[in-house]
Amino acid sequence: MRKYNVGVIGATGMVGQRFASILENHPWFTVKAVAASPRSAGKTYKEALGDRWSLETPMPESMGSLIVLNAQDDIEKIASLVDFVFCAVDMKKDEIKELEYAYAKAECPVVSNNSAHRFTSDVPMIIPEINAGHIDIIPAQRKRLGTKRGFISVKSNCSIQSYVPALFPLSKDYGVKDVLVCTYQAISGAGKTFETWPEMVDNIIPYIGGEEEKSEKEPLKIWGEVKDDEIVTASSPNITTQCIRVPVSDGHLGAVFVKFDKKPSKDEILSIWKNYSGRAQELNLPSAPKQFLHYFPEDNLPQTKLMRNLENGMAVSIGRLREDAQFDYKFVCLSHNTLRGAAGGAVLMAELLCAEGYMD
Ligand SMILES: NC(=O)c1ccc[n+]([C@@H]2O[C@H](COP(=O)([O-])OP(=O)(O)OC[C@H]3O[C@@H](n4cnc5c(N)ncnc54)[C@H](OP(=O)(O)O)[C@@H]3O)[C@@H](O)[C@H]2O)c1
Repeated sequence: MRKYNVGVIGATGMVGQRFASILENHPWFTVKAVAASPRSAGKTYKEALGDRWSLETPMPESMGSLIVLNAQDDIEKIASLVDFVFCAVDMKKDEIKELEYAYAKAECPVVSNNSAHRFTSDVPMIIPEINAGHIDIIPAQRKRLGTKRGFISVKSNCSIQSYVPALFPLSKDYGVKDVLVCTYQAISGAGKTFETWPEMVDNIIPYIGGEEEKSEKEPLKIWGEVKDDEIVTASSPNITTQCIRVPVSDGHLGAVFVKFDKKPSKDEILSIWKNYSGRAQELNLPSAPKQFLHYFPEDNLPQTKLMRNLENGMAVSIGRLREDAQFDYKFVCLSHNTLRGAAGGAVLMAELLCAEGYMD
């Protein structure tokens, strides 16, 4: 595989720091540009971050001396330095939409963690093990934008990264009909640590703005189909959620209840989970977990602290599958919100796009 030069827009943020750390020794990608707000622009990456570096691993040395560029004013310069950009910024939705279009129109593909374009009908929202085929929409998007290379692809919200991977493989044979999920979400999902959000110590906040809507709607795009020039969202499953912020640094856990069109046996579900793999495994992408879905039979697993880093934080852990009196089954599932759920998932999507020839 050829090497690609990449940029990170929003490099000083929580997700941006994860990008820095994951990309440090990436076999295909080298970070050549970092960008953030005017507050950080002009400083070295190390100076711009000051004491905001929040990961346990140290800041990559190779990046500390890069000069942070201005994400909005330096688009042409960044596009000339890199083959594509990752984007994770905290700005207003319409500003993000405009920013991502500007990079795409400068012929610089965008792999985005932001929600702004998730429901733009010709922008693929990809979990590489599940709906890799949605990248077929990219030529239609390029035609609309009038670009040769430039396009936008997005990652879904971190909250759905545990239960959609567990449910999707069951839908072909058994039809997933009704789903009720309560998510227990880490504070890093809000870009925070216990130092910057002390109210979260010994506390639970039963509200995450906009999260329940995303958690119910986004899976329907993942389940959708490419038809002509758009991705048509699916009309089922019916999903209802409650999203709760819990005092955990990293890792979103979901407690799921599910009803099928045709109820499978417990063994059939376990066998599908065990044997499931997707395009990411087929292509042997560098960030793909060897085993996408791990089932733990012990009653007290999966635990956030023990399992969130499974397969470099890219695998999904599942446990406690049992029959339910109102639905067919219930189970618990877990994924790392800033690895699989954010930067790691975006890097995997970029690997897919490279392997399929969309970044050349
Ligand atoms: N955290 C997660 O688990 C997670 C998961 C999925 C998706 N996301 C999404 O990823 C995005 C970033 O989240 P985060 O948690 O990393 O946020 P964050 O820690 O608040 O970081 C925000 C980043 O955006 C930059 N920024 C702010 N205003 C800007 C402007 N006017 N122009 C250019 N850059 C600007 C900041 O630069 P300065 O440092 O210069 O201010 C910083 O680099 C959000 O859209 C979020 O919804 C996050």
